[in-house]
This record gives sequence, C-alpha cells and structure tokens, in this order.
Amino acid sequence: MTNGATLPAQPHDPAPPRQPEPSPALGALYRDFERENLNPLWTQIGDLMPMHPQSKASAHIWRWNKLLPLAREAGRLVPVGRGGERRAIALANPSLGGRPYATPTLWAAIQYLMPGENAPEHRHTQHAFRFVLEGEGVWTVVNGDAVRMSRGDFLPQGGWNWHSHHNAATEPMSWIDGLDIPFAYYSESAFFEFGRDALSKEECSTPALSRSERLWAHPGLRPVAQLQDLPTSPLLAYRWVDTDRALNEQLALEAEGYAATLSPGHAAVRYTNPTNSRDVLPSIRCEMHRLRPGTSSTPRREVGSSVYQVFNGSGSVIVGEQHWKVEHGDLFVVPSWQTFSATSGAGTTAMDLFRFSDTPIFEALHAWRGQDVSA
Ligand SMILES: [Fe+2]
Repeated sequence: MTNGATLPAQPHDPAPPRQPEPSPALGALYRDFERENLNPLWTQIGDLMPMHPQSKASAHIWRWNKLLPLAREAGRLVPVGRGGERRAIALANPSLGGRPYATPTLWAAIQYLMPGENAPEHRHTQHAFRFVLEGEGVWTVVNGDAVRMSRGDFLPQGGWNWHSHHNAATEPMSWIDGLDIPFAYYSESAFFEFGRDALSKEECSTPALSRSERLWAHPGLRPVAQLQDLPTSPLLAYRWVDTDRALNEQLALEAEGYAATLSPGHAAVRYTNPTNSRDVLPSIRCEMHRLRPGTSSTPRREVGSSVYQVFNGSGSVIVGEQHWKVEHGDLFVVPSWQTFSATSGAGTTAMDLFRFSDTPIFEALHAWRGQDVSA
C-alpha cells in the first residue's frame, strides 16, 4: 500500500481468538505458566499482533495561548544551568502514563530562554531539531559553530554533536525542541555527556551565517571536497525565507497549470540532508505544509506518529475521531494509523503546518504504510 492507495476508513477486525474451555486443569496450567514466567500467545494475540496499528497514544492538542504563559512563568521562576540543562517543557500525551512523551517515539517541548541566559553545552545520541516559533537573537552553538535563530528557521541537530544555546537578545525566545527521546528510551540506546560550562567569546559572537551555511547552503551546489554521504545533515540552519519562497512557488506554479503541489491548494516541502537527499535526521522527518485559504488536505493515515504545529494562519483539523479548530501556535499529535486532514480558514491567510514524524524509522525497517482514506 503506497501513497496512491485509497481504502475504506474502517478496516474489518475478526472475532477474538477462541479460548479453551475453563477447567481446573487449565487453571493449573495457567498458574504454572505464571510461576515459570511464561505467557501464552493465544491470550495475548489481539494486543500483540493487531490487524492494524492501534496506538496507545491519544490524538491530543496543546493550545498556544495556554503554553506560552506557562513557559513565561517558568522563565521567571526556574533557572537554566548544569544538571537540568534546559528550560524545556515537554508535551505529555495523556495516554502515555504521565511520561513526557508526545507520542510513543517523539519528544516535543517548548524551550524558553531569557535574555542573557546560556543553556550549557552537552551532547547526546538522541537526534534533535529546533524550530523557532517567536523572535530572534538566540544562537545555538554546534561544535563551536554559532548558528543564529530567527522565526521560522529550522535547525537540525544530529546525535552526538556538542551543542549549547546563548540568548544575546533583549527579549525571551521560544522554540520547539523535537527529539527521538522516547524511541531511545524504549530501545535503551541512549548516551549523554556534559560539555564545557561556558562558551568562548568567539562562540558568543553573532555571525549572519554559520560556517555550515557558508559551506552547504547553496542549492544544487555541493562542495567537491566533501562528497561522502553523512547520516545527519551538515547544514545546521534552513532559513524561513527559503521555505516560504519554495511553498509560494509551488502554489504559483499550480495556479499557472503546472504540477507542483501534493493536492489542489496543498504545497509541501521536506527538509533534506544535502549529502544524500534523505531526511535531515535518521529517525525524524520534518516538513512544512501550506494550505491555500479554504482548501483541505487529502485525508490520510500512516504508520508512525506525527506532531504538528500551526505556524501561520488558522483553520481546522481532523485527527481520528477528534475535530479541532486550530490557531497560530497550537500543537497537536496524530497517532499511528489515525486519519488526518486539515482545512485552512477561508480568510486571506494560508495555513502553514510544521510537521515532524518518526517515518524514517519505519521506512528503514520496511514497516511503513500510508493510505489515502475515502470519506
Ligand atoms: Fe541537547
């Protein structure tokens, strides 16, 4: 099943497996199983091997007008420093047992940094990115390369790179931190190291372009001195001006009669690794979607989970059984195999949706499926 397949919204589930007749002997057998730490498949198969993915996560929305005041209050009350490392407030899916996980594989947090603050250097094997929601003037320093951050910029952060943050501005700044922390937690694969407690004076400078952008941010032009494929993107910032232009041109080309969009009125771009055109991170796919006012995306369901943020505009979204009006800044989760569609408001502003998902994990395992779903 691929992008083109269209199937009914409700798959047919068979009856649960037939169980043996209860008897004293059967009860004794089950007690013996338990004593020996054994568990028979025939009592578990519905949960272990469902006919289709049945996510433990809920479709859930976090409202920006609730999140931002709480982040500001945390900025007032909670210092940033070694140990806690980051003033990051994680979205906790209400169906995942109180863990700070937006989905079974993805961490999504609002990070909030006050003027003059530094978030200390560290590194970890979890892959990460920043997506800037408001403001400018913060630098993320990656392996000594200072990368400025402005609204709409996307900064991938491959695992095991040293990184810290420095707010050189006069205003607080907030961004989304996306990581594969839950995946690393459940797969027991995480390593972490503390770095230096302070940055050098040079690293707190404010270059317009990072060294990574000077080397890599030239569309279609690759440095011949660096032809090896890299598992994570060496380009450390994807600027909003480029993303915005790419989306506008897709819609303009569509209006001129050329094939450019995913569906009528639905432009989309994927952030890619310039060394191999694959995802920027091995475990996380990141995209920006733009819906022309009054248009809807094609309802779809896919294996794996996604987190969306309404970056511009407003509208409505359907996730499984949920139907929400959405506004600028709102974040919501689409669990695995739940049908998703979005509709942009009918005003004059397009709705931009930033999306990140765990799709590369399932593609690598040949376990990904996606379907358009008929109404
Ligand atoms: Fe980090």
